[in-house]
Amino acid sequence: MIDHATVDRIFAAANIAEVVGDFVTLKKKGVNYLACCPFHNEKTPSFVVSPTKGLFKCFGCGKGGNAVTFVMEHESLSFPEALKYVARKYGIEVEERQLTAEDQQKNDDRESMMVVSAFAADYFKETLHRNSEGKSVGLSYFRERGFSEATIERFQLGFCPTAGDAFTQKALKEGYQEKYLIDTGLSIKKESGGWYDRFAGRVIFPIHSVSGRVVAFGGRTLRTDKKVAKYLNSPESEIYHKSNVLYGLYQAKRAIAQEDYCILVEGYTDVISMHQSGVENVVASSGTSLTEGQIKLIARFSKNVTVIYDGDSAGIKASLRGIDMILKEGLNVRVVLLPEGEDPDSFAREHTAAELREYISENEQDFISFKAKLLLNEASNDPIKRAALISDMVDSIAVIPEAIARSVYLKECALLMRIDEGVLQEEVRRRRRDTQLSQDEKEFFRRREQLQKEQTTPALLPTTAPEGTRMTGSGMDELERELITYLLRYGCQTVDFKRDEEVCSATVAAAILEELDADGIDMENPLYTAILKEYRAIQAENPAYTSETFPMHRLTDYPDAQVCNAVVDILMPSELRKPSKLWERNEIYLKKEDELLSEAVPRTITLYKTKIIEQMIDTLRQELAQIGESQVSAPLTTAPQEPAAADPLNDRTKEILSQMNRLNELRNRICTRYSRIIL
Ligand code: CTP
Ligand code: MN
Repeated sequence: MIDHATVDRIFAAANIAEVVGDFVTLKKKGVNYLACCPFHNEKTPSFVVSPTKGLFKCFGCGKGGNAVTFVMEHESLSFPEALKYVARKYGIEVEERQLTAEDQQKNDDRESMMVVSAFAADYFKETLHRNSEGKSVGLSYFRERGFSEATIERFQLGFCPTAGDAFTQKALKEGYQEKYLIDTGLSIKKESGGWYDRFAGRVIFPIHSVSGRVVAFGGRTLRTDKKVAKYLNSPESEIYHKSNVLYGLYQAKRAIAQEDYCILVEGYTDVISMHQSGVENVVASSGTSLTEGQIKLIARFSKNVTVIYDGDSAGIKASLRGIDMILKEGLNVRVVLLPEGEDPDSFAREHTAAELREYISENEQDFISFKAKLLLNEASNDPIKRAALISDMVDSIAVIPEAIARSVYLKECALLMRIDEGVLQEEVRRRRRDTQLSQDEKEFFRRREQLQKEQTTPALLPTTAPEGTRMTGSGMDELERELITYLLRYGCQTVDFKRDEEVCSATVAAAILEELDADGIDMENPLYTAILKEYRAIQAENPAYTSETFPMHRLTDYPDAQVCNAVVDILMPSELRKPSKLWERNEIYLKKEDELLSEAVPRTITLYKTKIIEQMIDTLRQELAQIGESQVSAPLTTAPQEPAAADPLNDRTKEILSQMNRLNELRNRICTRYSRIIL
């Protein structure tokens, strides 16, 4: 741990232009510097470094931050690692705060395991290139598979001698401790006292962390004997948590960020062959099914994932769950099927990078058409299977966090399955409401429990929650973000809104701002409050701004980094790539945006207001519960003198009940105001 004083000194010393300048060629422009963004591919520079503010910001991809976060992002380091990097640059001595003995031990253990893994990787590499068995068996195997010298070097491929414990003996002789050889799984101790090398006789694929340290190995046998496992991997350990590692990410991360998409394949050799052919934005989940941790890892570099499946892969159906997980994380998923009999490895060896890219872009499908094609054949004539397929698709759509994306997929699903869109909308809405409700309920019970605990201390009998306290973590922020998104992206667009069965024309901005004003609602998220305030100020100056003339720069240049980052985030979300071919073909996305807005804006406002009201009701309900309890638990204090007279608690109870009633009515009125609430 680095202490606060040192952190402050590092930040004070860091000159952002110098720090960034070590990685990017900066051109002076006024007080700022300008460059092509290192985090995405661009020809005209939109990456700005402000030495006075100590910030950088890309107005193309939205990344922004300070000197330390730049190093973190650019070099994929952790925060302390980046701090140390900057400290070193400015000759600041880093004093680490004293760790507890236990933490220190854990750190030391991890470090020792990394060190022994690095030694092993070196040893396996040396063996592959210098040892006669390594050369004749290992190296010739890789050559046969078509791996070039450069590829073998890049992935640090190696070989472990067949003689039972050659590696372990060497490691022990070099002074590496038994404990770490065992903990990393590199060596296995026999009952009789001798050793095995886990990977004896196998070619070695080292597995790297994002920052490039070797944390584990995969070893492939060269025997054709079916009884021997083809691949053997390092066991889970303090340094290797399988579910948080992607094979090839270290080598692929820059390409993934630059091309803004990540190709996901199954195995080691798929990654390596695709790299060698020139397509470098490839990673593998290494045979296991995809995990949430792995998806989050990808999301650090791009929000677009293309999954490649073998033409005849038996596991496709099983992998559909993985696709839903990717959707749920808010990533954009495409799927590519290879021709029958091919896997990414074989396909990449037979094709150039250009051909590979072309094949992918011509054959990638979004998950809806993919699921449809995959399952429609067997379902087409069977109404029950068909219904199951539709329900399956709706499940997938319902987990997508962004409303517009949900709508687009719904339309597509309706078209493909020739089913009424309204029915599908209703289904998605129900599913989202169900999961949403259960979250709210959990939150409610959690808070009640907490209140009850507090109440056991009579001196601190809580008063009601302060006015306006709202629950967070129950979708509020999501709804606020959605409203701000409509405002910023489509604010000046005029749309026909249906309201009380009447159609009225208004700009999206007017619709949203009027609704918020009507009930005096302030957003909970301070960033959005700031955006709203500035937006109102701009509009007040000239209410007739159009999409073309609206001075959006006043929001993108907002003098608060967090606010402007939020704005840029919304205006240029990296997940909104060009609409897929299918969308274009059906002209869903491009032509019907208006129609989407006319439904989505009122729906979101309605949901948002409903949510606020529900939270108010909830606060009242809690007060009610407290009153009830204080009457039961403390009968003596309120006791005898004035029995049924002006009981303040009773009055308050009545007041609360009538308020709750009013709120309930209000909620119902709001809900019915829009003739149809979707999603
Ligand atoms: N895998 C594994 N353990 C196994 C089998 C497979 O870890 N017993 C993982 C490996 O990461 C492997 C991937 O699953 O790369 C895909 O398996 P498979 O298709 O059998 O291997 P390939 O990568 O095609 O290897 P090769 O071409 O060398 O047979
Ligand atoms: Mn293979």
